[in-house]
Amino acid sequence: MRNKLVILSIFFLSIIIFQACQENTKPQTETPKPKDSTEACVPIKDPNNPKPMALMMRLMAANADSMRSQLLRGETLDSNQYAFIKFYLVEPTDPNVLEPQFFENARMFQSSYHELFKHPKEQKKYYNLMINACINCHESYCSGPLKRIRKFPIE
Ligand code: HEC
Repeated sequence: MRNKLVILSIFFLSIIIFQACQENTKPQTETPKPKDSTEACVPIKDPNNPKPMALMMRLMAANADSMRSQLLRGETLDSNQYAFIKFYLVEPTDPNVLEPQFFENARMFQSSYHELFKHPKEQKKYYNLMINACINCHESYCSGPLKRIRKFPIE
């Protein structure tokens, strides 16, 4: 009788453990809710297949980084080395960003970008103004990279 009870309890225990393990290995059907595009935009939906606008933005960030290093070394930036990137003409991850305010921000950014090369003697100042235009658009359309961009200005 006692033996039977032990065997029975072991049997039920194994069933419980088996089910608990099944629970854990169940594929996650619920994907994490994507954040609102104005909230983050990074991480992007598919980091291995970025949209052209995301790729251009990465290049713009790399360029801003290298402009910053050059200015800190006291060098003058050459517009031939930093052609303007027409990011607003290409496909973004989230097509909802393509609204009038976005294009207005892009226009202001483009104008501050060109100002930078019109003032070779005051490039630190105009570089910071250009970075402000990055920040200005990112505050409305893609706040994810803001933390990084806010490190770009030169003190
Ligand atoms: C007119 C608006 C606008 C301006 C100006 C702008 N950005 Fe962006 N940026 C965006 C949007 C929208 C995205 C999302 C692009 C996408 O995912 O397709 C983005 C994405 C990025 C990303 C993330 C790219 C990735 O890996 O997915 C970085 C970094 C970035 N921008 C840096 C910058 C820097 C640096 C500047 C200024 C030199 C700048 N941005 C100017 C709107 C802007």
